[in-house]
Amino acid sequence: MSENDFFCDLTATPASHLQTAVFYEIKDMLRGQTATIVFAEDPAITLHSLNLQLRNNLRWEISRDAAGRWQAVIHRAEDVPPTDVLDALKRDHKRLDAMFSQVIHLTDSKQLTAAHAIMRAFVEGLRKHFAVEHDILARAIRTVPDAFGFDPTAAMLQEHAEILNQSVMIELSFEETDASSASIAPLLAILAGYFSKHEQREETSLFPVWTGALNKAPDEARAALLVRVLGILDGVRYAT
Ligand SMILES: [Fe+2]
Ligand SMILES: [Fe+2]
Repeated sequence: MSENDFFCDLTATPASHLQTAVFYEIKDMLRGQTATIVFAEDPAITLHSLNLQLRNNLRWEISRDAAGRWQAVIHRAEDVPPTDVLDALKRDHKRLDAMFSQVIHLTDSKQLTAAHAIMRAFVEGLRKHFAVEHDILARAIRTVPDAFGFDPTAAMLQEHAEILNQSVMIELSFEETDASSASIAPLLAILAGYFSKHEQREETSLFPVWTGALNKAPDEARAALLVRVLGILDGVRYAT
């Protein structure tokens, strides 16, 4: 533990206040830092429920000392390498979201050259992300349409085509001679809504199916697949 890490003892904190107490303890934790927290009871449920509120940004290990107290060492999720392909894809969703928010912010503040550069990187990131979802996962794991004929894989492919078309169109709009904040911001607003709904739909309808299928594969095959996927997504940035 370095001197910048956090430590606190919550053994005397009532169960009803635990989640809030942990939140205050970890809210200023920076990348690379950890928080070590001691609890009177098993904190797993408290940590899972806090993590849901924090968009799955936390990882932790729980242990028990000789006196029977529970200790959790908490990290930020990005400090820990992705555990599996779906974890890597969810992190990539957040990374793409953050890039797109930056494009919106820079466009709103009239910094169009910087916005254009990030938009280009966003489109590049989308292509890699879609390559994993189409060429590896959708090809290997077939889904069946429900009673209404809805097939989550077909819906995903259609939405990706739409997202890519809109993104390329926005990228080109930055190159027009009369490009301005006012001409591009409305296009970004439309794509922002569509894109975040798509990611939510994908994570709730398709990711559980993919997780179920991958869980049946042998450990070595899953590990090899993760290496391959991180190679495509540029996994270097996830290294600790
Ligand atoms: Fe995705
Ligand atoms: Fe997607």
